[in-house]
Amino acid sequence: QLLHSELAGDEVIVVSNREPYIHEKNGNRIEVKRPASGLVTAVEAVMRACSGTWVAHGSGSADRMVVDRCDRVAVPPANPSYTLRRVWLSSEEEQGYYYGFANEGLWPLCHIAHVRPVFRSEDWNQYVAVNQRFADAVVKEARTDDPVVLVQDYHFALLPRMVRQALPRATIITFWHIPWPNPESFGICPWREQILEGMLGSTILGFHTPFHRRNFIETVDRYLETRIEAEASTISYDGKLTLVEAYPISIAWPESTTASTAEESRAIVCSDLGLPEDHLIGIGVDRLDYTKGIVERFQAVERMLERHPDMVGRFSFVQIAAPSRSSLEEYQQFAARVRKLAARINARCANGAYQPIVLKAEHHDHDRLLHYYRASQVCMVTSLHDGMNLVAKEYIAAREDEQGVLVLSQFTGAARELHEALIVNPYHIEQGADALHRALTMPRDEQRERMRSLRALVREFNVYRWAGRMLLDAARLRQRERIATRIH
Ligand code: F6P
Repeated sequence: QLLHSELAGDEVIVVSNREPYIHEKNGNRIEVKRPASGLVTAVEAVMRACSGTWVAHGSGSADRMVVDRCDRVAVPPANPSYTLRRVWLSSEEEQGYYYGFANEGLWPLCHIAHVRPVFRSEDWNQYVAVNQRFADAVVKEARTDDPVVLVQDYHFALLPRMVRQALPRATIITFWHIPWPNPESFGICPWREQILEGMLGSTILGFHTPFHRRNFIETVDRYLETRIEAEASTISYDGKLTLVEAYPISIAWPESTTASTAEESRAIVCSDLGLPEDHLIGIGVDRLDYTKGIVERFQAVERMLERHPDMVGRFSFVQIAAPSRSSLEEYQQFAARVRKLAARINARCANGAYQPIVLKAEHHDHDRLLHYYRASQVCMVTSLHDGMNLVAKEYIAAREDEQGVLVLSQFTGAARELHEALIVNPYHIEQGADALHRALTMPRDEQRERMRSLRALVREFNVYRWAGRMLLDAARLRQRERIATRIH
C-alpha cells in the first residue's frame, strides 16, 4: 500500500544483472530456480507489490535453448505480476563486463577482503558497452518520458548517466548493494572519474549505511569538481542534483505463520544429516565467496571444539555454500581452500560417522533453508566485509519460536542495526569461538529476549520500508522538479 501511494501510477523499471527467475533445462523439463542473491530477495518482494518491468541478464541454460530467447516473460510463474525483460549477452560480453570488470575489478575494490582487484582495458570496454546495451533496453521499455528507474548495484555504475541522456526527466534511483570504500582505496581504479560521473546521473543514490554514504561523498570530493551540500546530502554535478542517502535494505517479513514448527524442522534436518534429534547444530548460508569469512568461521568452530571437548560429538556446523562465479580462478581457489579446511577439521575430530563440519556446497531452495534456520541453535554470519547481509535477517524471520542466537560480523551493514546479536570481529578466531560457545550454552530466556527484540526490529524495518523511503524521497524531488519546470 505504501509503495502504491508513493508511486501514484508512475511507471517502474528495475535494472539488475541477476534475474529473479532462472529457467534451467532438466531432461525434457524446464525448472524455474531462484538465484542465491540478497539483491533478488529484496527487490523481488518490491516488484511483486508494485509491478512494472525488470530488465536483467538472461542467464539460465534453458533460456537460450528452450524458452527460445524469449525476451519477455510474465513472472512470478505461479502468479504473474510483472514483466521480466531479458538482455542476452555474448560470452565475450559476459566475460569482460560481469566476470572481469564487475567481479575481478569492482567487487574486490569495494570489499576490504584483501583480494587485489584486477583491471583490464578489455574488461572495461565490455563493461561500458554492456552498460549501454542495458541503458538502451531500459529506454526501449519505457512507455513514458519520466519513468522511475531502479538501478541495482555495481554492475551498472555507468547506466544512470546513459539513461539520463536519453530520458532527462526520468527519476533514476540507484542502489549500491555492496560497501563503498574510502577515497584512497577507490582511487586505484583507472576509470574512477567515469564511474563517479556515471553514478551521478542518478536522482538518488542509496547505500546501506551512513558510513558507505560518507565514503562515497568523500570520494567524489577527492576526484571530481562538484558542489557538495553536506547538510542536505546532495551533490551537484554537470547541472544535475543527486541526493546521496543511506537506506538499509531488508527482507519481506513472512506474512503467515509457517506450516512447520521448529520441532518438525529439526526432525527433517536431523534425518537429512543422519544426526540424533538432540544434536546441537550451527548454520552458515552464503555464496561460496571469499568475502563471507567462511574460512575464519570454520577456524572458530575448530577452536571452540578444542577449548570445549565436551562439544565434540554433540555439535556440528552445517555450511550451505551456493557455488558462485566459479569460472574465476580466485573463486576456484577459495572453494578448494574451504573444502580442504573442512576435511582437515573433520579428520582431526573423526569419531565414527561424526563430522564437526558438514559442508554442503550446493544451492538450497528457500523452503529447505527455512528448515535449516529453524533447526539450528546458532547462525554464524562472519563476513569480512558485507554491504548488509540478508541471511542474518532471514534467520531472525524464520525463528518464530523466539529461540536461536545470531553471531554476526561487525563488518556487515546488518551489525549497525542488529545489536542483540553476538557481534564479533571475524578475524579474531578466539572471539568467534567464544561467541559460538556462548550461543550454544545461552539460557532459553536470554535467547528469547534477544530474539524477540531482533524480530521486532526486522519486522518493522522491512524491505517495503526500504523501498518506501527511497520512493518517498523520489516523490519529493519529482514534485520539486515539476514546480521548478513550471516556474521557468
Ligand atoms: O549483493 C551483492 C551481489 O553481488 C548482488 O549484486 C548479486 O545479485 C549477489 O551478490 C550474487 O552475486 P551474483 O549475481 O554474481 O551471483
